[in-house]
Amino acid sequence: MKHFTSVKDLDNLEAALQLAFELKKAPYKYQTLGKNKTLLLVFFNSSLRTRLSTQKAGINLGMNVIVFDINEGGWKLETETGVIMDGDKPEHIREAVPVIGKYCDIIGVRSFARFQNKADDYGEKILQQFIDYAGVPVVSMEAATRHPLQSFADLITIEEYKTVARPKVVLSWAPHPRALPQAVPNSFIEWMVAAGYELVVTHPEGYELAPAFMNGLTPEYDQMKAFDGADFIYAKNWAACNDRDYGKVISTDRSWTVAARQMAVTNNAKFMHCLPVRRNMIVSDEVIDSPNSIVIPEAENRLFSAQAVLKLLLDQINAQ
Ligand code: CP
Repeated sequence: MKHFTSVKDLDNLEAALQLAFELKKAPYKYQTLGKNKTLLLVFFNSSLRTRLSTQKAGINLGMNVIVFDINEGGWKLETETGVIMDGDKPEHIREAVPVIGKYCDIIGVRSFARFQNKADDYGEKILQQFIDYAGVPVVSMEAATRHPLQSFADLITIEEYKTVARPKVVLSWAPHPRALPQAVPNSFIEWMVAAGYELVVTHPEGYELAPAFMNGLTPEYDQMKAFDGADFIYAKNWAACNDRDYGKVISTDRSWTVAARQMAVTNNAKFMHCLPVRRNMIVSDEVIDSPNSIVIPEAENRLFSAQAVLKLLLDQINAQ
């Protein structure tokens, strides 16, 4: 694994999952592995879970950790090539990234979709420049199209709570007042397909995800039908992805808010969400406060998805 940006970067998903469970049982087992190694986490966007869990994961492995909120302490970055830099951006990403790479052994990057240009977002314009120019392994801490550390934690959580070998997992769109990226649902689908679970994706018409991420799945537009017999409900909002409405909120239909009415037709399903979550928009208080809600253990598992990924990268660095 040279970089970690998607489930496809793992050589062996089952082995990575077992490593995460091993680390959960013994978080300090490899506390000397990262001695004299530096993890530098670059945030273009806000974060609570990713920021804290990835730092803690690095610390558990004995790494030095630097967190850089690039838009708050750094120079405003130009990301376009071939431009005359006579505006308000004094530094080009083409220099900034290799310089950052000189100060660390692994870089984590968070750079959300900007919704200005679909081709730029789906081409991972920012993340790709880190991969191309950093000179060290890059870990995606949520990029424009995927959030792999979240999806890995989701997989760990489902493995812990499932009661049948192949659970029915439902990814449900839910309303939100602002336009959110498709990274979490895209990535979730990839990891659930890789795990071999039964997966149903449900959303209102117009919210179709990119075919490349749907893995041949057909969306179910009837949310109640989708929820029927489900073992896990994964709620998430995302903005429209089609070329005409890319990045727009085209519905805030609160009949899609996950509530007791929908949960009643499931197989006593567990409720999941990556957080942060808007209560009574995405999910009712009643559902998120119920014993079936596993959003907190899901967030806890962010520690172990990050630690597993960092350990795999450190093993490779130390072997060089
Ligand atoms: N789920 C998640 O990535 O949370 P943060 O945005 O708070 O990091």
